[in-house]
Amino acid sequence: MLMTLFGHWALALGIPLAVNAANSTYSNPIFPGFFPDPSCISVPEWDNTFFCASSSFSVFPGIPIHASKDLANWRLVSNVLSRPEQLPDLAITNKSTSGIWASTIRYHEGIFFIMTTLVFDDQAQTNFSRWDNMIFQSTNPFESSSWSDPVHFNFTGYDTSPYWADNGTVYVTGSHPWEVTPGITQTTVNLTTGAVGSDLRYIWNGTGGEAPEGPHIYNKDGWYYLMIAEGGTGLNHMETLARSKTIGGPYMPDPANPIITNANTTQYFQTVGHADLFQDPSRSWWGVCLSTRSGPEFLVYPMGRETVMFPVTWQTGDWPILQPVRGQMSGWQMPTTNLSIAGEGPFTDAADHITFPPNSSLPIHLVHWRIPINASYTISPPGYANTLRLSPSRLNLTAYDGNYAGPEGQTFVGRRQTDTLFTYSVNMQFTPQTEGDEAGVSVFLTQNHHIDLGVVLLANTTSSSSPQPLVPYFRFSATSYLTVPPPLLVPVHASYPNYTSLSNTSVTTLNLYLEIKAINLTHYAFSAGPIESMSDLLTIGTAPAADVSFGFTGTLLGVYGTTNGRIVNSSSPGAPAYISDWKYTPQGRFIS
Ligand SMILES: *[C@@H]1O[C@H](CO)[C@@H](O)[C@H](O)[C@H]1NC(C)=O
Ligand SMILES: *[C@@H]1O[C@H](CO)[C@@H](O)[C@H](O)[C@H]1NC(C)=O
Ligand SMILES: *[C@@H]1O[C@H](CO)[C@@H](O)[C@H](O)[C@H]1NC(C)=O
Ligand SMILES: *[C@@H]1O[C@H](CO)[C@@H](O)[C@H](O)[C@H]1NC(C)=O
Ligand SMILES: *[C@@H]1O[C@H](CO)[C@@H](O)[C@H](O)[C@H]1NC(C)=O
Ligand SMILES: *[C@@H]1O[C@H](CO)[C@@H](O)[C@H](O)[C@H]1NC(C)=O
Ligand SMILES: *[C@@H]1O[C@H](CO)[C@@H](O)[C@H](O)[C@H]1NC(C)=O
Ligand SMILES: *[C@@H]1O[C@H](CO)[C@@H](O)[C@H](O)[C@H]1NC(C)=O
Ligand SMILES: *[C@@H]1O[C@H](CO)[C@@H](O)[C@H](O)[C@H]1NC(C)=O
Ligand SMILES: *[C@@H]1O[C@H](CO)[C@@H](O)[C@H](O)[C@H]1NC(C)=O
Ligand SMILES: *[C@@H]1O[C@H](CO)[C@@H](O)[C@H](O)[C@H]1NC(C)=O
Ligand SMILES: *[C@@H]1O[C@H](CO)[C@@H](O)[C@H](O)[C@H]1NC(C)=O
Repeated sequence: MLMTLFGHWALALGIPLAVNAANSTYSNPIFPGFFPDPSCISVPEWDNTFFCASSSFSVFPGIPIHASKDLANWRLVSNVLSRPEQLPDLAITNKSTSGIWASTIRYHEGIFFIMTTLVFDDQAQTNFSRWDNMIFQSTNPFESSSWSDPVHFNFTGYDTSPYWADNGTVYVTGSHPWEVTPGITQTTVNLTTGAVGSDLRYIWNGTGGEAPEGPHIYNKDGWYYLMIAEGGTGLNHMETLARSKTIGGPYMPDPANPIITNANTTQYFQTVGHADLFQDPSRSWWGVCLSTRSGPEFLVYPMGRETVMFPVTWQTGDWPILQPVRGQMSGWQMPTTNLSIAGEGPFTDAADHITFPPNSSLPIHLVHWRIPINASYTISPPGYANTLRLSPSRLNLTAYDGNYAGPEGQTFVGRRQTDTLFTYSVNMQFTPQTEGDEAGVSVFLTQNHHIDLGVVLLANTTSSSSPQPLVPYFRFSATSYLTVPPPLLVPVHASYPNYTSLSNTSVTTLNLYLEIKAINLTHYAFSAGPIESMSDLLTIGTAPAADVSFGFTGTLLGVYGTTNGRIVNSSSPGAPAYISDWKYTPQGRFIS
């Protein structure tokens, strides 16, 4: 009775009911790994489920959707982009900063909408042709196949976000390119046809920080609130707010700006910004944004920009108050634990043990770099049950200059690194036949940033025979904007003198266990050994995680196959690699 009375009193003052209950504690990030630019909604009509979308840049499938009923357990339920036909141009973007930028998820009258931008980040293009804005729709976000083909609309800029006025008009608010005349612009859009209004207006230019972007509009207590990110997505990142009585402005800034940031602090969680706000079933407010676990040094953050959550207090007529982002958080009582969530993918903290059984398909949390050539990935081909056959691409993981690859594909499939400490391993059967044939495992951030342990067939350059015999070597190499040591070559056979399967250079079918382990906060170790004897595992090399800490994306752990430039076609397909027993084991998540 006392609680009920207290509840009414709280309501009258506009204080959310949740103050009645004990607060919850939880830890950030809520989606560890490469899940930047979050946008989240709460959907009462769908059994009070929360849904979030993330940026995916060049990876395919793209635009992952997570769902939760308790804010604590999140499942990857679908990918908005799962069919190459939805967006063929994703195959031809250049640079690691291209691809799918911030997606906004919204629910309106029974339909889920994703509004997003495919960016062609080529410096030559600064006009609208660089920004391909689009809308996807779904009536069942638990199935990737439910997401529509996009409707494209003409908007010079990015980070577009829709807002439905009561009269049915849909406003699109986005970011004008920062190199030209930065600011938040707005027009109207027809979501069915993509037709945009003729009046593109600047509604707010922010508080003076670099790159005002990531806008969202909320209507509360007679005010339109416009929340944006400023400062660029690095150490100066912050979130700012303004409000207006009309949607088109003028917008007056919040005197408390920035409303959330970790800039100029020594926090482990940095680059806090690019936020979205939503309300749980108890009417308590929450927010999500991106953050890097880098500390102010900003040198080691291989997982890149991750999704964090914070509680928000938003009383009637007042500006909202956002709690600062930390690793250990306390906030409103969360909904009761509920793990019954439909969907196609794993929970965010799950381990992997993928055995590629016949008639299965690749799990939806596995991704490629740009649109894959499907024939390069065959599960359980004849004679090789419970394996994934990787057919090599002509291009290696770097391809040309590290920026371009084009539509011919780079054979690679990986999963996001989601833990500071982990062990990732596969078994690989590989019979390299021609010089340059290579297959192995990689910590892949971008074409310009990856650390690889492969087996590659190369000529023995110290041999006096002519031609020089081809020998399989372990090649351990790092590609980075940082200075890296030259590739290390170690002959495979000489590494394991005891194993007949590996001891005769005329026997070239190699059966190897390959492992990547994050041994501490700053370093990965790459190891290999004969499958039949784990005690003979050799660590071939270690490399700093700083080599793969850069830019907009986060590390992927995966397998690749390439001929290193030799043409691949039906008469010369290159040596396949058969991958089995794919494992990822989380071993620790640092939050301070
Ligand atoms: C990407 O770069 C390549 C090579 O420099 C160029 O030929 C191509 O036109 C570029 N593509 C786009 C979409 O900018
Ligand atoms: C946009 O930029 C491209 C590349 O610089 C140029 O070819 C094109 O004419 C421009 N289009 C408009 C409408 O300005
Ligand atoms: C897109 O909008 C711009 C600016 O309003 C205009 O110049 C251009 O012609 C439009 N492009 C298309 C394809 O409609
Ligand atoms: C629709 O509502 C918006 C927001 O209230 C208003 O600005 C706009 O003029 C209205 N449009 C029409 C066509 O009534
Ligand atoms: C924002 O900046 C643009 C481009 O520089 C300018 O045209 C516009 O007047 C500014 N708008 C406001 C509201 O300050
Ligand atoms: C969008 O365009 C279609 C086709 O012209 C039209 O039927 C529909 O009414 C428009 N929607 C809105 C909200 O104006
Ligand atoms: C951080 O400090 C710099 C230098 O004093 C200042 O320019 C900037 O506005 C500060 N950023 C925030 C978000 O407080
Ligand atoms: C519960 O969390 C909210 C949101 O962070 C905060 O405002 C409130 O002070 C907390 N209450 C207690 C008792 O800690
Ligand atoms: C390469 O050739 C040299 C000279 O014949 C030989 O000593 C060495 O063992 C060979 N290396 C490998 C990996 O076969
Ligand atoms: C394996 O090979 C190493 C190096 O040649 C040798 O020292 C060791 O005794 C061998 N072990 C077995 C079990 O044969
Ligand atoms: C992590 O491991 C590497 C490689 O063994 C070592 O050089 C480095 O000092 C270690 N770092 C820490 C923080 O222990
Ligand atoms: C990777 O591919 C590029 C382009 O095909 C080639 O120039 C480069 O030598 C290859 N790298 C290795 C290590 O073979």
